Formats: sequence, structure tokens, C-alpha cells
Amino acid sequence: MCGIVAYLGEREAQPILLEGLFRLEYRGYDSSGMAIINGKGLQSLKKKGRIQFLEEALQSAPLPGKIGISHTRWATHGGPSDENAHPHRDQSGKLALVHNGVIENYHSLRTRFLAQGHTFISETDTEVLAHLVGEHYQQIPSSDLNRLENALKAALKEVNGTYGVAVIHEDHPNLFVGARRGSPLVLAIGEKEHFLTSDVSAIISHTQKVVYLNDYDVVSVQNGQFSISSLTKPHAGYEITEVDLADAKAEMGAFPHFMLKEIFEQPQSILNAFRGRLDTEEYAAKLGGLNMTPQELLEIHRIKILGCGTALHSAMVGEYLIESLAQIPVETDFASEFRYRNCPMDRRTLVFVVSQSGETADTLAALREARRKGFRALGICNRVGSTIARESDGGVYMHAGPEIGVAATKSFTSQVMIFTLLALNLGRMRFLSASQGKEIIQAIEKIPSQVEQILKLSDSIKLIADKYKNYRSMLFLGRQYQKAVAMEGALKMKEISYIHAEAYPSAELKHGVIALIDEETPTVFLCPKDSVYEKNMSNLQEVKARKGKVIAIATEGDLEIAKFADDVIYVPATLEPLMPLLTVIPLQLLSYHTAVLLGRDVDKPRNLAKSVTVE
Ligand code: M6R
Repeated sequence: MCGIVAYLGEREAQPILLEGLFRLEYRGYDSSGMAIINGKGLQSLKKKGRIQFLEEALQSAPLPGKIGISHTRWATHGGPSDENAHPHRDQSGKLALVHNGVIENYHSLRTRFLAQGHTFISETDTEVLAHLVGEHYQQIPSSDLNRLENALKAALKEVNGTYGVAVIHEDHPNLFVGARRGSPLVLAIGEKEHFLTSDVSAIISHTQKVVYLNDYDVVSVQNGQFSISSLTKPHAGYEITEVDLADAKAEMGAFPHFMLKEIFEQPQSILNAFRGRLDTEEYAAKLGGLNMTPQELLEIHRIKILGCGTALHSAMVGEYLIESLAQIPVETDFASEFRYRNCPMDRRTLVFVVSQSGETADTLAALREARRKGFRALGICNRVGSTIARESDGGVYMHAGPEIGVAATKSFTSQVMIFTLLALNLGRMRFLSASQGKEIIQAIEKIPSQVEQILKLSDSIKLIADKYKNYRSMLFLGRQYQKAVAMEGALKMKEISYIHAEAYPSAELKHGVIALIDEETPTVFLCPKDSVYEKNMSNLQEVKARKGKVIAIATEGDLEIAKFADDVIYVPATLEPLMPLLTVIPLQLLSYHTAVLLGRDVDKPRNLAKSVTVE
């Protein structure tokens, strides 16, 4: 949420910052701004709306200079406006600051400053932080060589909340400072230039050498040198990492939206999730990153899986997979709930946190809570080097490549594939026979080409979307493995088309939801040929009996279902535990086409941001 790019070097900062902001636009897109220091002092420009508006404004009023900070915003305190856009200045007007996060005690600080005669032009917590840093700066003697850095440190000691910040000051045209707590920040090191950013994708075209900052790190870049210290204790040292281009660079190519591109990437991204991880001799999976011995894996009594949104839905598929293949009890929970619960946990519980970005604030907090309580906690992440990936005790990378569309698509299937491998592995150590393992591996290997086959239905799914796009409410129903797929389908429909959608296990229908069914509320029925097919068909009849329209997702060759459903989308047959990898694809396409037909901004739906780094 919110994107930061800062630059200091020998080149003009404006085009570098602007390019970085465009690459970070998925993190927030309600306003943006830039501040640069040049011969005229500190100059800034801020614009409500998409970054394109800032770009247009810069064309008529460029900001020359070789040092600058910039920001793309997802509003927390104060609505989207030019005034609330970052950067914000301190009372002197000479210091500018960009911020990602939330300053929880901003109100009392603001009251204090107002009593001192400060004036504020925005409603944001960030402007209060700028004033706080500025106040400390005034109090530090000008003889202090680290005056701005020390002012930032002193200010941050007074705030509660989360931050990734970058600060510049007119009197220091060769210096920027930054710090993080809870919001990601990366220092990137180029040839005679440095960058500070929320996400490496912003700067990857300039350098691949980065330092992922940790919480309480404070970074200072001055005259071509950088230093990293800690806000709280002597610094433990840092590591310079080489970023893999494939993990960070995202281009839309010929696709009209990142979401569609990412849906179509799934044959490859699913393959990437299992490539090199199948053990075709033992009929198991190789997951070295778990950092656990076979003995430790055998000793697991329970598993807890935590995540948010789509990641939680993949966890729910994981729950069924692990329980069914490995017979280990699994619980899933919203990371945001777990972090404040005091749920009793068996000491031999293994915790998994699932996060595409590896930066989701609630998931990160849940990971820290689990580890604080002494549990081994593993991460399933896509972003290499993300905070969750770095702080977990081990884990599995998805290798899905960058996911930019706000609606998660390929990360869901990659996560489900990783849970399949995990369940296979844990199962083979327990009750799953070699022949069952072999059957699963053979089915896994077919999945990419089966997904390819479903993607060919995109045009016909578009026709179905056209037929249903004007309904105001939809239901998504499925049982067993398909329950979580229904939830994922409903989330996709809601977040990009803004059509109200609810998901339930099909059999729950008659306990209340059935009251919603009429000719105006279509139902998407996940009804593949699985162990509950007959039961599901009865539930489908209950909908039809009440004049509800039905779009069925069914298994190829099932002609029976076509007699009852208004529309049917067929997917190839596979084993029941792997079916979510196939049935979710038509739902992604259905929501995508519906949203496009309704004229929605598919990659940047209203009120959302890709990476939710605030609580
Ligand atoms: O990066 P994460 O996987 O931790 O993100 C979790 C959710 O914020 C995310 O899945 C969100 O629900 C998506 N917009 C769903 O499409």
C-alpha cells in the first residue's frame, strides 16, 4: 500500500522517479507527488488521481534536479486530494517526507503542534510526521554531521505505528534518509547512484543490487555513500542481494490488462511451482526450503495456516488437501484474527503463513505472533526477499513471477500447487501408498496443459459474462474442495466488477441463503464430477426449483448437468484434490470479462491496493 521511490545520483531524478511510480502504481493509485532539490531549493508537485496526471503536470512544470523523493498513495487518513498527496513538508517548508504506513498517535502530535502555532495543509498523519522530524531537526545543532538522520531517529522514537519513510532537506542537497518499521523499504545501489523504494520492481531497470531493510533500520545516503544503522540497538549488519530480474520485472506485453496476462500465465506459473520438486522415484515431493528433517516432519501433530483474501482461500484448499492426503488436522484462520486471538495451540503445531507479496501487514503480524509464542512458522511467498520470506523459519517460494493485477490469480493456483506438494510429502511419510503418490504426481504433471485447454474457452466465457453482467447480486456455491474455490470466485467478482457476490458450501443453501434465490440472482455452481457430485446436483435442483439461473462449472463429458444449468463451462477431468487448480480458471475469466464489459478498471479496482501493508 502506497509506493515510495527516492533517488540520489548523477542523473536527472524526475524521469527515474516517474518511471518508478508507474511501476508501483499497483500499490496505490489515488494521488501521487514528487519533491526535488535543485538550485531553486525544494520544489514539489502533487496531483490527485492516477500518476498519469502527475506526469502531465510535470510536462508543463518540470522539476529538474538530481535528488528527489516521490510517492503514490492509497489513502488512510484524509481522502484523495492534491493537498493530502505526498510529499509533505515540515513547518519550515524546507524538509519533505514521503510515508507508507500509519502514524497512530498523529492526533495528539498534531494537537501539540497546533498549540505551538504550526499550520497544516492536509488531513494526513504523514504531514504531522514531517513536522515532527522538522521540529527535531531545529533542535539539533547544525554542527551535527548527521543532523537529518538524527532528527528522523528522534522523531520516530516518538511515534506509534508503522512506517516506511524517505526524507530530504533543502539544506542537504546530497542527502536522503529513510527508515522502516512494518512497511517495506529497499535500498538499491547503482553506479554512483542510490535509490530507496517500497518494491524493487520500481528500480529494477537501473540496478539489481539491493539491501532489504529490516524493521527499525535507518538508512542514510550521502555523497555516493550509504550507511545503515538501527533505531533501537547496534546494527547487526546488512547483506547486499542480487535481485533476479525474472522475480521483479513485469511488463504487460500484448495483453490489455495485467490480470488477463497473469491468468494466461498460469500454465507456466503452475509448472514453476512444481518444477524440480517432484520425486518420481519415491512418489513424493522435494521441498528443501522447509528446513525440516524427516523426523521433524513426522512429529507434526497439527497445522495452522494463516493468510488474507485469496491467500486464505488457497489455505482452505490446503486444509482439505493435507487432512485428506496426510491425515494431519489442519486449521485455517484469517491472519488478522489470529494475531489478536489467544487460541490454544498444541506445541507440535506447525504454522504456515501464505502471502503472495510477503508484505501483508496482518500476515506478517500473525507470523511474528506465532514465532513469539515459540512455534515454527514457515512462509509460502512469491516475492523473493520479502519481509515474510525473510522472517519465517523456512518455506516454499511460488516462483510465479511478479503479480501486478490487484486481483490475485496466478498466485492462487501456485499456492494450491504448493499445498498439493506439501500434502503429498506429508502423506507419503504417513499413510499414502506409493501407487497413490504416483497417481497424484501423474495428475500434477497434466495440470499445465489442462489449464491451457481451459484458457481457450476465454471467448465463450466472455459471452456468458455478457449475459450476466447486469445482475446486481450473485451466489457462488461449491462443496468440499470446491467450497474455497467458490469463495475465491466470489471475491474476484466483487473486487473487480463491484457486483455483490456471496459464497457458501452448497448444502448450506437451505439454512438461509436460499431466501436470496430468484430470477434476479444467478448462481455459479461448482459441480465437477467428484465425491459429492450427486449431493451437489440436488442442491443445484433446489436453485432451479426457485427459478434461479445457474452457471455450472462441470467436468468434460457431463451431459447430465447441461439439462439443468442455464450455462455450463467444462473443465477437463483430474483427481478431486487437484480440481481447484482447474475450476478456478473459468471463475477468474468470468470475473475478468464481466468487469471489462462493465467498463471497470480491472487492474486498479476502486478502494483497493495490491499489497496491504497497513492493518
Ligand atoms: O500478498 P498477499 O497474498 O498477502 O495478499 C493477500 C490479500 O490482500 C490478497 O489476496 C487480496 O485479497 C487480493 N486482492 C485478492 O484478489
